Amino acid sequence: MAKAVEFVKINKRFPGVHVLKDISFSVEEGEVHALLGENGAGKSTLLNILHGVYPEYEGTVILHGKEVHFKDANDAIVNGNISKVHQETLVVKDLTVGQNVTLGYEPKKGMFVDFAKMNSDVDAILSDLNCKFSAADLVANLTSGEMQMLAIARALYHHSNIISLDEPTASLTLKETDALFEVIRKLKAQGVTILYVSHHLEEIFQICDRASILRDGEYIETLDIAKTTRDELIHSMVGRNVAAVAGRLKPSPRTEEVVLKVDHLSSGKNFNDVSFELHKGEILGFFGLVGAGRTEVMRTIFGADRKTGGEVYLHGKKLDAAWNTTKALHAGLGLVPEDRKTQGFMALSDNTDNIAISSLEKYMTGLFVDQNKKNKNAAYYFEEMDVHPRRIDYLTKNMSGGNQQKVILGRWMSAETEILIFDEPTKGVDVAAKAEIYRLMEDMVANGKSLIVVSSELPEVMGISDRLIIMSEGKITGELTDKDQYVEDVIMNYAIGGN
Ligand SMILES: Nc1ncnc2c1ncn2[C@@H]1O[C@H](COP(=O)(O)OP(=O)(O)OP(=O)(O)O)[C@@H](O)[C@H]1O
Ligand SMILES: [Mg+2]
Repeated sequence: MAKAVEFVKINKRFPGVHVLKDISFSVEEGEVHALLGENGAGKSTLLNILHGVYPEYEGTVILHGKEVHFKDANDAIVNGNISKVHQETLVVKDLTVGQNVTLGYEPKKGMFVDFAKMNSDVDAILSDLNCKFSAADLVANLTSGEMQMLAIARALYHHSNIISLDEPTASLTLKETDALFEVIRKLKAQGVTILYVSHHLEEIFQICDRASILRDGEYIETLDIAKTTRDELIHSMVGRNVAAVAGRLKPSPRTEEVVLKVDHLSSGKNFNDVSFELHKGEILGFFGLVGAGRTEVMRTIFGADRKTGGEVYLHGKKLDAAWNTTKALHAGLGLVPEDRKTQGFMALSDNTDNIAISSLEKYMTGLFVDQNKKNKNAAYYFEEMDVHPRRIDYLTKNMSGGNQQKVILGRWMSAETEILIFDEPTKGVDVAAKAEIYRLMEDMVANGKSLIVVSSELPEVMGISDRLIIMSEGKITGELTDKDQYVEDVIMNYAIGGN
């Protein structure tokens, strides 16, 4: 088989770090090739080199037998016929789908944009992708799954024969993920080569032919997926044996004391008549499919959204009508948001400051902030969560996606919040680091805190929670109080609204 991509001795350095070390391997034409490794292994960096985002590197990139060196991302798309689909697709919200797909390369009639041709060209691609939206629709109305499809449509508009997807399913519903896989299979059948990055290993077994493993910036091996087990993949990624499924290691410190009571809470169309209690020392799991309304419930409890009915009680005290996030934090209630790009960390701050920002009182010596205390605190979480690189002085924005997530978790874990709600805490986090995050959660409840963990990952909520609530379409559809009731099919049935 002919080779679509060959990496030859690729090296990449950022000031002070050698991120990719002599990477050499190749990807065959028409295969779906996974790129796997722990957070910070170098997956996104390698893709950025391939796609011209980082024009400065050492080594050679060969596409279909010809050496290339793109000067920017656009050069790669237009002259190399290769495209990368970002996790957070960059779109111009006020434009139509057609305008976004063709942006900068609109079909012209004389000096003017030929909108009729634009729409018919783009509609042809969209129908080929089985999309339900059309070129004339506004992008502002699309779901994250549809945005992803828009990005793929853009790649096809530019006749890309190599398409990279960097954690494409992180915000997709199961249905959208299935639709994406359908499209990937179709593209593969047409001879398009796909590079695929994901921390969801089950996806790798569903759609990938081979997988190349990176560890700490080094190439380890390329495996044939059909001949590899899940444990072998994990072992190759982390270099040691790691339990694939998380569980509790310590006995639960759950007490009978109710710290949070939610009573018939509603918020317009988002969710309706939600009631539950959280006990001191408990880890309460909240499972549901993407879009079930869990995030909205949590935001309302935290005071980030308005309720339209019902009440919330904190330590038996009813929250007043003017409840807001500032009051929540003062009262010891915190929410770790799902969307780290927009709500997660300060772009201009280093890791130490980003971890310290929610607990500044802790580091005061007299009137002054004690830098040493801040550093110690950050170093503790870096060690516990195995953050790479171990550089508390780095700007958080220069960390890899999964490591940024760990910095955000560290910040909330070091805050003095008694009740903490985690919304999709391990999104983008690799298998090994997940287990370490669960250990920290166990430490938190052992210290008298109470946690709610919202997650779309079934093994995660099954493994970590004392009790499990399941939501579907804005309503609580199930509650499991006993670990013996934790049966995958039962939980999924509640999640799709059944009973
Ligand atoms: N602009 C930058 N400046 C300095 N270091 C950087 C920069 N971009 C990336 N790095 C470092 O390069 C290493 C590899 O990062 P990369 O984003 O490629 O990892 P990844 O394998 O994609 O991880 P994840 O699974 O968390 O997304 C990390 O240690 C990261 O901190
Ligand atoms: Mg990455």
